[in-house]
Amino acid sequence: MSIQIKDEIKAYYGGIAKSVTEASKSSCGCSASCCGEVSNESFLYSEEFLKGVPMEAVNASLGCANPLVLANLQKGETVLDLGSGGGIDVLIASKYVGETGRVIGLDMTDEMLELAHANLKKSGVQNVRFVKGYIEDIPLESETVDVVTSNCVINLSEDKEQALKEAYRVLKNGGRFAIADIVQLKPVSDDIMQNVQMWVGCISGALEIQAYKALLEKVGFKSVEITPVNIYTKEIVRQIADDKKLGDIYSQMDENMLDGAFAGAHVKAYK
Ligand SMILES: C[S@@+](CC[C@H](N)C(=O)[O-])C[C@H]1O[C@@H](n2cnc3c(N)ncnc32)[C@H](O)[C@@H]1O
Repeated sequence: MSIQIKDEIKAYYGGIAKSVTEASKSSCGCSASCCGEVSNESFLYSEEFLKGVPMEAVNASLGCANPLVLANLQKGETVLDLGSGGGIDVLIASKYVGETGRVIGLDMTDEMLELAHANLKKSGVQNVRFVKGYIEDIPLESETVDVVTSNCVINLSEDKEQALKEAYRVLKNGGRFAIADIVQLKPVSDDIMQNVQMWVGCISGALEIQAYKALLEKVGFKSVEITPVNIYTKEIVRQIADDKKLGDIYSQMDENMLDGAFAGAHVKAYK
């Protein structure tokens, strides 16, 4: 990943994490969304998943779908969440793997790790740890993980093949890759794809479904299934732009080209 893009992403997500942390310190009790920074997608999770998870972790959610509906987590399993952010999926996963299982959240952004640690403390959960590092260079031994989860992160990587290779390496044989990510459903112009601010906003780095499938198969994954679950209509894209204060950039773009071009998708595969 180039230093410039990596630093842009860190600064962007670091800023979001800081605003969520500040909001919870000032007991504003509001979500990242109502603080005007991000579109909070907590509607992605049904009550069953959110039960027992601290509100601060739910409010810090930046995902694009719920990867845990795919993961079929079992007691005693080891889970790795790539780009764990404020920790929502890690804390949900910890309930399903129980005391005999463990969940590791990996993220490169200091402020996100700080927020995740604060959320972990509030949750009182014991089977979780958060680790600093890059998804393209996972600081774990090979074949030590039963399930890799992730939510709206792979699309941010400039070296997706390396990130997927690393996920494959750390999975045990037969292990599951069960993630949510943004995919591209139709072509868009170069200026949309190349815009760094959209990139950090989870869209411009999205792969088309066939390319995503091919990349997963190239690094060794089997039985790959990619299913769009939340389609980004132009109304939704406009709302995201407004929430992220990127309205000026979006208004220079062809709305019809953006309409339905991207979706939050479930991505499942096996080692
Ligand atoms: C869109 S947020 C998603 C956070 C979380 N998964 C969720 O659903 O709320 C992306 C997260 O991935 C992290 N991230 C992005 N690129 C990364 C990379 N190459 N290595 C590690 N973490 C990364 C960011 O710091 C940020 O916390």
